[in-house]
Amino acid sequence: MEIRGKTALITGGAVRVGRVISLALAQAGANIAVHYHTSREEAETVVAEARSLGVQAASFQADLAEAGQSVALAEQVLAFFGGVDILVYGASLFQTTPFPAADPMLFRRITAVSIDGAFHLVNALAPAMRERGAGCIITLIDSSAWKPWHNFTAHAAGKAGLLALTRQFALELAPTVRANAIAPGPVLPPAHYTPEKIARDASRNPLGRWGSPQDVADAVLYLVKADFLTGVVLPVDGGESLR
Ligand SMILES: NC(=O)c1ccc[n+]([C@@H]2O[C@H](COP(=O)([O-])OP(=O)(O)OC[C@H]3O[C@@H](n4cnc5c(N)ncnc54)[C@H](OP(=O)(O)O)[C@@H]3O)[C@@H](O)[C@H]2O)c1
Repeated sequence: MEIRGKTALITGGAVRVGRVISLALAQAGANIAVHYHTSREEAETVVAEARSLGVQAASFQADLAEAGQSVALAEQVLAFFGGVDILVYGASLFQTTPFPAADPMLFRRITAVSIDGAFHLVNALAPAMRERGAGCIITLIDSSAWKPWHNFTAHAAGKAGLLALTRQFALELAPTVRANAIAPGPVLPPAHYTPEKIARDASRNPLGRWGSPQDVADAVLYLVKADFLTGVVLPVDGGESLR
């Protein structure tokens, strides 16, 4: 798929890795719909930066744990841009959930952002993608989808569900719409990580270092253009999955 002139919706597209993906797509000539949940000002900044690159851009708020809001997001973006060609599903609620759980509802909320949000959004967008004759869905998962992480029961179940959904989308929506996942390794530490934790995470991959959000954005651009790829997982992890 040629990126220039297409419309991309990036969930969680206002901050951190999502922000870099949004701007990489805009730099490549895509019009961008920047979804945010709480980061309104950051979303407006991304929109302004994208417009300065000469593409159309707008921001859209939604809590993707709520089915109605996911569907409304799809409808708003379709109405504003007249269609969507590319969906990058980066939204994620990254919180520890020690098990047995003190707050079982947190499991529901975390998995709802990863699984239900993607389901309802793609369910609402896929008919319009098919009508346009092509579509590309990219989800952001991580290695917890196949390798359990201590204290991350909800996150791991959510990412495993998102991976299963991605493969299912690839099968159900072929040949018009392709769906692939990216599994980043360490590319951007959360603010609370200590220097020791950052060094420990770097030592887990054979390259011995952290990657960057740009590495993930480059993989997104590649998957949009890679017309014979569907249903695959692309690890962007410095080889961490080998260990
Ligand atoms: N950072 C890494 O090294 C790394 C490694 C492996 C995988 N990944 C994956 O790559 C993606 C981006 O990583 P990141 O570190 O930039 O993620 P992050 O800092 O955890 O940001 C996640 C995004 O999810 C959105 N979000 C949270 N709760 C939401 C809700 N209820 N409804 C809608 N959106 C919600 C946030 O939006 P607001 O800010 O607007 O609230 C935010 O933009 C994630 O899927 C993550 O799992 C990242």
